[in-house]
Amino acid sequence: MQTVIRAAELRSLLAAARGAGRRIGFVPTMGNLHAGHQSLISLARERSDLVVASVFVNPTQFGPSEDFSRYPRTPEADAAALAAQGCDVMFLPAVDELYPHGAENAVRIHVPGLSETLEGAIRPGHFDGVATVCAALFNLVQPDLAVFGQKDYQQLLVIRRLVADLSFPIEVLAAPIVREPSGLAMSSRNQYLDPDQRERAAAIFATLGWMRDEAQAGRAAADIEQGALLRLESAGLRPDYAVIRRADDLAEAGAGDGPRVALVAARLGSTRLIDNQLL
Ligand code: PAF
Repeated sequence: MQTVIRAAELRSLLAAARGAGRRIGFVPTMGNLHAGHQSLISLARERSDLVVASVFVNPTQFGPSEDFSRYPRTPEADAAALAAQGCDVMFLPAVDELYPHGAENAVRIHVPGLSETLEGAIRPGHFDGVATVCAALFNLVQPDLAVFGQKDYQQLLVIRRLVADLSFPIEVLAAPIVREPSGLAMSSRNQYLDPDQRERAAAIFATLGWMRDEAQAGRAAADIEQGALLRLESAGLRPDYAVIRRADDLAEAGAGDGPRVALVAARLGSTRLIDNQLL
């Protein structure tokens, strides 16, 4: 596996691969890789000839009171994990490589509607940062396909919309959520949890399963949402939301609205966890 730091070097390396007819798969990450990321790399590996993963803790998607400075940075371990998973190129840029005029002055991309609800309401500007960095990375890598985890469901929809509206010729693939034995969705933020919090965090997956069962039994979404909040609270979590929404645009879901998704965000101490379940 090659590690590339400069955008210009990445461009010329990938231009050569593209010229040789190789199909490029791309997995954007913020590093601190775990089994969830490995599944994204495996999917890209299966579906392309050359796999590129970026490792970049993107400052523009963190709010002023969020964990940008303490976000775990583990580039050596990430390189080893990527190589073991069959990744061909790790792109490890510095901030000025992706934001030549500085992160504060960067051109921003805003995906309306999807960026304001749920995570977007609690983390204003977060999805602008995600859309902005992904657009820059897509332009640099020019992949044939890009893989995103279903765990960040709202992010996945934002990226699909970005790709559609800005005509990126990229196939966006969603990789299923990878879970710990307790059901807790894999996340780099899980390592902030102490053993007691980790145990309590399993209530998120259990609650999502309960929401799915209740929805299948035909119970009204508003009642399910209320019940889900109570379940999370009684497990010692502080839920930000537990909702059932339309799966394709996260609009409020009425009866007969097609596929739906249950989404939960909850806090344990200073850690925020998100998870979801397609219904
Ligand atoms: O999901 C993530 O790790 C990040 O939001 C992403 C897509 C790499 C953009 O920084």
